[in-house]
Amino acid sequence: MLLGFDDGGAPVCMDPAVLRTHVSVVGAAGSGKTWMAKIIAEEALRAGVPVLAIDPQGDLVQMMEARPRPDVPPALLRAWEELQERMEPRILTPGSSHGQRLCLDPLRLPSASELSHIANPALRAEEEEGLLVAVAANLVSLCACGGEEESQRTFLFQVLQRLPRAAPVRLRDIVAAVTAPEDLGIDEVDSLIRKSERERLARRLNTFVQGPSARLFSGGTRLDFTELLRPSRPGRVPLNIVYLNALSNDDEKHFFLAALATELYRWMITTVDATSGGVNLLFYIDEARDWIPAGGSKPPAKQPLIRLFTQGRKYGVGCLLCTQSPRSVDYNVFGNTSTKLVGRLEAAQDVERVSDWFTIEGGAPPWVAARKGAPKGSFVARWPDMPAALAGRAFKGRTLFTRHAGAWSPDRVERAVTEAGLRGPGG
Ligand SMILES: Nc1ncnc2c1ncn2[C@@H]1O[C@H](COP(=O)(O)OP(=O)(O)OP(=O)(O)O)[C@@H](O)[C@H]1O
Ligand SMILES: [Mg+2]
Repeated sequence: MLLGFDDGGAPVCMDPAVLRTHVSVVGAAGSGKTWMAKIIAEEALRAGVPVLAIDPQGDLVQMMEARPRPDVPPALLRAWEELQERMEPRILTPGSSHGQRLCLDPLRLPSASELSHIANPALRAEEEEGLLVAVAANLVSLCACGGEEESQRTFLFQVLQRLPRAAPVRLRDIVAAVTAPEDLGIDEVDSLIRKSERERLARRLNTFVQGPSARLFSGGTRLDFTELLRPSRPGRVPLNIVYLNALSNDDEKHFFLAALATELYRWMITTVDATSGGVNLLFYIDEARDWIPAGGSKPPAKQPLIRLFTQGRKYGVGCLLCTQSPRSVDYNVFGNTSTKLVGRLEAAQDVERVSDWFTIEGGAPPWVAARKGAPKGSFVARWPDMPAALAGRAFKGRTLFTRHAGAWSPDRVERAVTEAGLRGPGG
């Protein structure tokens, strides 16, 4: 993977295998993080690794378009062509038809047969339970009924556990079960959850089946990773960009991301061969602190995303994140990114935190301090088994092979999708 060139013009390259142990790109505002992360995504595609990029701001979606050929340095033209030949962009728009509309209903819950490859029955039961707990938690956060959320989660978990799961579970089945839990054999319901809270939960859930809030659960095609990661032709590599900006509010974005991360985890443990050793997917999330903040704050997608970072490497799902400040993102997540690219730093505390990463290795290398005030686009990288010659060497990210511009509005996305003939089935 060609990341860029050092001051002497020598290429700086990274083995795609390191994607498996996750990458973080750190740097002050405007230092070139998104640019660098896009280089990594492009290089992953060129290496045959499908990409799933989450685009809450509207500045990743432009990757669907090639950078104009005259803007590419001649020495990089062959690589630029290779990317255009290989990448197969899909613009996914939950809740709207600006791109390919995505739908979260029916929900995917793990069936016993899907988990049968996990030989240890105790582990199998834990995975199954963990997934149901996560789906229950996502739904409770979406409903935002207030009251005793812990009881609501416990109750919904019991419901999900008992619903027949061989066929897909529709949201309306869950509403029916919450309304009449006795039918599922849940006794002493009142000891699990107050009647008034259960009724409120049923009413709220029902608003996602019908009415204006139903957008995430209706229309379009069902979220299906097997489908999303399958190229339309051999040799192509899917670039899936999930554009969240057509959703009306942050709660919907948070919930969608939580549901997506939960489903990605289910897909991973039920369909991916953990022994294959390759990189099956690069999951890219910019501005991680909005979703996985440090400290006690727990936006809905935080737990599901942390689980992707802690478990993904086993299944060859590499994660890539950007952040302005290493202090602002959950430490478990940082602890789980073994590749770090450090751009310009501004705050002295950021330099300190970056230094902390290296204390286990015998103290911070001298280059860390020099990151303060480094130029835009300049990075120093560190990854496992990096060639010694690259240690501490600053380099500039290469020219992007796709477009990088200000945020695209939903209408702009629609136009680009239509012009490129990227409408999905039925769109
Ligand atoms: N390697 C590079 N070569 C040329 N220009 C670059 C490079 N890296 C960054 N830039 C320029 O710097 C601008 C800011 O980069 P980018 O959007 O990646 O920053 P950022 O760190 O993600 O900023 P923010 O914190 O606002 O998200 C880009 O629009 C681009 O013009
Ligand atoms: Mg950015």
